[in-house]
Amino acid sequence: MVSSRIPGFYKLSLDERQRITGERFDLTAVELASLDRGGIDRDTADKMIENVVGSYTLPFALGLNLQINGRDYLAPMVVEEPSVVAAASNASRIIREGGGFQAESDEPVMISQVQMDHVPDTQVACAAVLAHKTELLALADAAVPNLLRRGGGTRGLEVRDLGDGMIVVHFLIDCRDAMGANLVNTVAEAVADRIAQLSGGQVGLRILSNLCDKRCVRIRCSIPAAALGDGTLTGEAVRDGIVRASRFAEADPYRAATHNKGIMNGIDPVVIATGNDWRAAEAGAHAFAARTGVYKPLCIWRKNENGNLDGFLEIPLALGVVGGPARIHKGAALGLKMSGVSSAQDLAMLAASVGMASNFAALKALATDGIQRGHMALHARQVAVAAGALGDEVERVAKEIHGGGHVTLDAAQAALLLLRKVPAAEQSATL
Ligand code: MEV
Repeated sequence: MVSSRIPGFYKLSLDERQRITGERFDLTAVELASLDRGGIDRDTADKMIENVVGSYTLPFALGLNLQINGRDYLAPMVVEEPSVVAAASNASRIIREGGGFQAESDEPVMISQVQMDHVPDTQVACAAVLAHKTELLALADAAVPNLLRRGGGTRGLEVRDLGDGMIVVHFLIDCRDAMGANLVNTVAEAVADRIAQLSGGQVGLRILSNLCDKRCVRIRCSIPAAALGDGTLTGEAVRDGIVRASRFAEADPYRAATHNKGIMNGIDPVVIATGNDWRAAEAGAHAFAARTGVYKPLCIWRKNENGNLDGFLEIPLALGVVGGPARIHKGAALGLKMSGVSSAQDLAMLAASVGMASNFAALKALATDGIQRGHMALHARQVAVAAGALGDEVERVAKEIHGGGHVTLDAAQAALLLLRKVPAAEQSATL
């Protein structure tokens, strides 16, 4: 098992971090080199989608300190936003003090939707479909023989009367280690004609549902109040601030949307780094958050009877570790390798744990000294680069503008000119 603790990792040079990563994961020189090229060459890019004119890379980082069900994980994370990786790593270190994340996952069951429209009598149609359940399940299974060989297959069938002459039949399909979109869509198309015969209706849409609420993960953690103090505030005060922040999100959809964005800050980078479909993850998460008719937070926080801070997160996540872009995208293949997971369920638990860590980090910052101080320190480096700083100049300019309290492009350009000792007259001309 690879330890997820790498103290001082952020202080190392990129070369040093790559060396350690290579050693930890036993990466070949070719694999390491592909990290530098964004994981994809131009020919592969050209085959992945249409109308390709190039490729677009994002930073690939490792989220540290994660412990899930007693096992350490390093989280591959691809993201453009500064402080996301640092915040998740920091939060995971604190959550570790309470025993880490406790995670559980549903079986990887997706929903295949078959819409029947213009149904003459929807009640009769629903009864007819249910009466032929065994036959329909067999038809569905016959469409995906490889999935059956891998231990997956249909697990059930539901019929819903949507009114207005419309019914929808749900096939519940265990996709094992695949995300499952293609499998589920294949099934929907294979069974639709028979359902039309049974229902007397016309075949409508045949497609997966991204509200994959049979495929949820649940993450818990319990953090001792003593681990929450920050020198200024007591651990109890920080804990209570986080609980009130959770209550705010539970009471207000405007806040819940931002709260959930903070969760997706952790989840999406893992989804992307492993070549999974982040639009599907987002669609499922937000539909699930609104399933009661009111948009709610996906993660809530409470004080428990021992005075600890308990977190609970529940989210549907359809992620795959077989098939998908990882077959051709070397970055995604590396992301999967580094994640250390052996199943789609493990990957969903890892991504959701990073999501909980991100939410905890955001609430802790917001409930104490605000998000901007920590964020701006890291954001300043991007601003310094945008101003033209190179090499060592980046950290020096970032430090200067952050220390001066003006993390702006103007301030960075001025700091850079001073650093390069440009004469004052030229400075004003340039600025
Ligand atoms: C920023 O990317 C995410 C936060 O807005 C999340 C939150 O407010 O909980 C900080």
